[in-house]
Amino acid sequence: MKGPFSFLTLFVLIAILFIPGQVNGNSLSCLICHGTSEGKIFIDSEGFSKSVHGTFDCTSCHLKHIDTPHRAPEKDVDKSILDISSSLRIKSKADPVALSACNQCHPEISEKVKGSVHGQNIFAKKKPDGAYCTDCHGSAHYITPGKSGQSPVDFGHVMETCGGCHEKESISKDYGFSPKVFERYKESFHGKKYILGHKKVPVCTTCHSSHDIKTRTDPQAMVFGENRIRLCSSCHPGANTRLVAAITHKPVGRENPIPFYAEKGLIILTISVIAGCMLHVLLEAYAITRDYLRKGRIEDESRDASVTDE
Ligand code: HEC
Ligand code: HEC
Ligand code: HEC
Ligand code: HEC
Ligand code: HEC
Ligand code: HEC
Ligand code: HEC
Repeated sequence: MKGPFSFLTLFVLIAILFIPGQVNGNSLSCLICHGTSEGKIFIDSEGFSKSVHGTFDCTSCHLKHIDTPHRAPEKDVDKSILDISSSLRIKSKADPVALSACNQCHPEISEKVKGSVHGQNIFAKKKPDGAYCTDCHGSAHYITPGKSGQSPVDFGHVMETCGGCHEKESISKDYGFSPKVFERYKESFHGKKYILGHKKVPVCTTCHSSHDIKTRTDPQAMVFGENRIRLCSSCHPGANTRLVAAITHKPVGRENPIPFYAEKGLIILTISVIAGCMLHVLLEAYAITRDYLRKGRIEDESRDASVTDE
């Protein structure tokens, strides 16, 4: 083989050999470079092909790139998508249009997220801190079904996904949240059961929802006023205002006294049970010794009596 063209042909053929069959032709034309390059622009073809969007064109999200490398489509992208993408520039440096493309196929969810406390942080406050799709679902290229057991939003992982960001000191300080919510959860009645593998305990999304999360002072928030009683009574029938006060993420102490006194109570209970057992054993030992000595004395006395009788 001679000349650069032959080398390119060989390279493309080798590249195609490594790309899984499910990937379609459009994606293939991108993966020839992106499936073989290094660094941030590398896309794992195998991982992409197994994702929920694995049979899609790359350009179904990358609306600004078409066919040949990075040629923009002749017809401009829908204005509504471009509007969203101008707000999402603070979330995505690489391709905010691709991040906005989620709205095209998941319009209801996107609307909810936009109206949530996370979305408002981005769209109204113009900050990069709030969570958007890929902060919770992971890279857009490798989204797996919620029930795959590998999704960052499934029951086993969602605590870390939400907790991981909320655990950051910068977030809790800037927004006045309790520090270390995930740690506090692990110490709570629910968290202790969660660690033991209990499947019916509430996780972050059970109490706050996923796409529709509101700030705690918003009447629509699941933890606001009467809603909170409804939330707790879904698992604790007859929950009242006293029970619902048992859950907060504040550090255990004066401001969050229930787990504090519950723990103290448990320690006192444990100590008294052990002390009770020991006392019981000691009393039993005393009784046995006493009976033994007394029996000995009675036998001695009766022997003495029989001796004098003779
Ligand atoms: C000939 C190789 C090649 C092909 C084919 C190719 N790309 Fe790229 N792409 C690159 C390189 C190189 C970069 C890094 C550019 C840079 O850093 O400026 C890149 C960067 C990107 C980026 C990051 C943002 C940007 O625009 O710089 C996106 C998104 C992207 N490519 C999408 C695609 C899509 C979608 C296709 C298929 C329609 C595709 N690429 C086809 C080589 C390629
Ligand atoms: C489901 C939507 C979706 C599909 C399908 C998709 N992408 Fe992306 N891609 C995105 C989003 C969103 C980003 C922006 C990520 C960010 O900025 O954090 C992105 C970023 C990229 C980047 C830049 C990475 C970086 O950090 O610089 C490249 C390169 C890229 N995609 C290539 C591809 C290729 C090649 C395909 C097809 C095999 C593809 N994408 C399919 C949504 C998608
Ligand atoms: C071209 C349309 C299209 C675009 C664009 C798109 N999706 Fe999807 N998405 C779908 C379809 C269709 C499904 C259902 C696939 C299935 O059930 O096999 C899906 C499934 C999902 C799932 C569900 C996984 C589960 O639990 O079953 C998530 C999460 C998701 N998409 C997120 C995103 C995100 C984030 C973006 C933007 C980066 C995006 N989608 C862009 C069409 C799209
Ligand atoms: C704060 C975290 C978070 C953000 C942000 C988020 N999601 Fe989700 N998403 C979840 C969780 C958790 C689930 C699991 C199902 C549930 O509990 O509702 C989920 C489920 C899904 C599903 C599958 C189930 C369904 O309801 O159809 C799709 C599709 C989806 N999300 C798309 C998106 C898109 C698109 C965005 C961005 C507009 C987004 N999500 C933003 C956390 C998030
Ligand atoms: C059993 C239900 C429950 C679970 C599980 C739960 N929360 Fe909460 N969360 C609440 C309640 C109730 C409040 C309101 C507390 C208050 O007003 O003091 C709250 C308040 C908050 C607040 C704002 C106030 C503060 O003290 O920080 C944040 C942020 C928060 N939760 C995040 C999370 C995250 C992240 C997770 C998962 C790691 C989680 N929550 C798990 C019930 C729950
Ligand atoms: C990328 C970081 C990030 C991720 C991931 C994230 N959050 Fe948040 N969350 C924030 C920020 C920042 C705010 C504050 C937004 C504001 O007030 O402007 C917030 C606010 C909240 C609030 C409102 C607290 C209040 O009362 O004001 C709740 C509840 C909450 N998040 C729960 C969750 C849950 C549940 C998840 C997972 C499904 C999650 N968050 C994932 C960053 C994140
Ligand atoms: C998804 C179901 C679910 C939700 C929602 C829920 N809990 Fe629980 N809760 C549990 C389970 C399961 C246990 C462990 C019960 C056991 O060990 O018998 C538990 C235990 C408790 C305990 C320890 C004492 C006991 O009864 O075992 C308290 C207190 C508690 N929850 C309060 C709350 C409060 C307050 C809320 C509302 C903010 C709430 N829970 C919401 C499932 C739930």
